[in-house]
Amino acid sequence: MKIDILTLFPDMFNGFINESIIKRAIDFKKVEINIYNIRDYSKDPHKKVDDYGFGGGKGMVLKIEPIYDALESIKTNDSKVILMTPQGIKYNQAKAYELSSLKHIIIICGHYEGYDERIRSLVDIELSIGDYVLTGGEIPAMAVCDSVIRLIDGVIEKESHEKDSFNENLLDYPVYTHPKEFKGMKVPDVLLSGHHANIAKWRREEQIKRTKDRRPDLLEKS
Ligand code: ADE
Repeated sequence: MKIDILTLFPDMFNGFINESIIKRAIDFKKVEINIYNIRDYSKDPHKKVDDYGFGGGKGMVLKIEPIYDALESIKTNDSKVILMTPQGIKYNQAKAYELSSLKHIIIICGHYEGYDERIRSLVDIELSIGDYVLTGGEIPAMAVCDSVIRLIDGVIEKESHEKDSFNENLLDYPVYTHPKEFKGMKVPDVLLSGHHANIAKWRREEQIKRTKDRRPDLLEKS
């Protein structure tokens, strides 16, 4: 899979692509990530990419021309173009699975007050990572990329993501490691029993209990 990211702050992605599982996925050619500076597509002598909004109001608006030109040079027939915005549809695990099967995604990260509305006509989907507003689309883009890349075959063990929270609309079950007791807090006996059927039953019950307590909205869907 290829992921191209359009941003005004390319350096924000340095840590993301150079550490841990994402770095390994890149090294093993499971994913190719290219970071493009939107400013490089500005034809303005000062490399301006934003301007005042018509009709007044505070804040600057990202212009359409550099985004259009960047997409023209990057896009192919296989590309899906995503705009990160708090006004997008809410991102979730199901969407992550959907995106993980694509060949090429292009993610546009905005900054400033907003995008020129006409940029919306250039994209396939608008995504929001939640009902809060960040200073730009870079952190949301990293969240989307991270959640998609870990689902690509061979990046992590299939078993680890098949049991993730949100698969089947249930939160994850509790897990424990050594020591068996810490300051009076004990690992549940069933996990030490070696009885696989009982362990599976306990985990399922814990998933349902936890989801009921914390995310009853998910349980209604499951
Ligand atoms: N840009 C700023 N806030 C955002 C959010 N919540 N989701 C996606 N993009 C954003």
